Parts: sequence; C-alpha cells; structure tokens
Amino acid sequence: MQKLMLVVCAAAGLATYATLAISAEDLAAAVKARRHLMKEVVAPAAKLANKMIKGDEPFDAAKAAKAMTEISEVPDKYVKLFPKGTEHGAIADSEAKATIWEDFPKFEATAKKLKDASAKAASAAAQGQGTFTAAFKDMTNVCKECHESFREKLE
Ligand code: HEC
Repeated sequence: MQKLMLVVCAAAGLATYATLAISAEDLAAAVKARRHLMKEVVAPAAKLANKMIKGDEPFDAAKAAKAMTEISEVPDKYVKLFPKGTEHGAIADSEAKATIWEDFPKFEATAKKLKDASAKAASAAAQGQGTFTAAFKDMTNVCKECHESFREKLE
C-alpha cells in the first residue's frame, strides 16, 4: 500500500514530499524504487548497448534504439524519488549524496541531460554503429558526471 501511494504520487507528479510528513517506510520505498530504476532498467540497457559497440553482440539498430529509449524514460520518474531524508547514511542502502538536496535544480538538470542524451542515442542508432557509438559515449559521460557529483558509492 505504501508503495502504491508512492507510485501514484510520482505518476501524478505531485510535490507530495514537500508538503507531507513521510513515514520511514515511504522513505525506504523511495530508495528501493530509485535503485531499481538504475539497477534493473538503466544499467542493463546501457550494458546491452556497450556489448554491441564492443562487438560482443551483433549491432542491431532496433535493439540499440529500444535500449536507449528505455533509459530516456527513467529520468522524469527518477528525480521524483528523492524525498529529503533519504541521503547516504540516513537510509540503509542509499548511495545518494547530500549534495543532491543542496542543489536540487542541478540534480534535475543532470537528469534531464541523461534524458536528452539517451533520446539522441536512440535516434542515432538508425544512422549506423559509428554514429550510435559516439552518441552512446556522450550519454555515458552524463552517467559519470552525475555519479561524481551526486552518488556516494557503497562498498
Ligand atoms: C541524474 C543523476 C544520475 C545519472 C544521469 C545517472 N545516475 Fe546512476 N545513480 C545516481 C544516483 C544518485 C545513484 C544512487 C541512488 C541511491 O542509492 O539511492 C545511482 C546509482 C546507480 C547504480 C547502482 C544501483 C544499485 O542500486 O546498485 C547504477 C548501476 C547506476 N546508477 C548506473 C547508471 C548508468 C549506467 C547511468 C547512465 C546511463 C546512470 N546511472 C546515470 C544518479 C544518476
């Protein structure tokens, strides 16, 4: 039920977190949901594309485009899963640096960069492997940029 509320609120795009007191369970659910998006959606899609680029798998423009589109659908949902009180140290498993809340607009802007770069890579796929590879590399630079500023990697 808690999770359902969270999903409903995120889907409606409400600024729920700013106005409501949030239970510890909801905070933990937000961390779980955002980790799921990175680990089970973004990372596998990026891995697949990387395999194609390295030649471990044949380059398939449709598959590459689909993987990049999957990534591009994450950022808008992702930034809604960062209620205050879910930084690294406050919640078990959180790798979110406190810097996120020091400059939330910057965090959102970096997420938007991922959205744009992955959408660009998705359309680059149809132009062949070379064009796709360049666009994919631009996108992975955004992963790095955001992790360097906003992620505290756990051991
Ligand atoms: C807007 C910032 C941002 C961008 C862009 C971003 N990440 Fe992340 N990523 C994070 C944050 C913050 C965490 C830690 C979140 C947490 O623990 O709550 C994270 C965590 C992860 C994790 C660990 C997930 C887990 O639970 O083990 C993986 C894997 C990951 N990101 C992959 C990627 C890849 C691949 C890209 C690029 C395609 C990417 N990320 C782009 C912010 C970002």
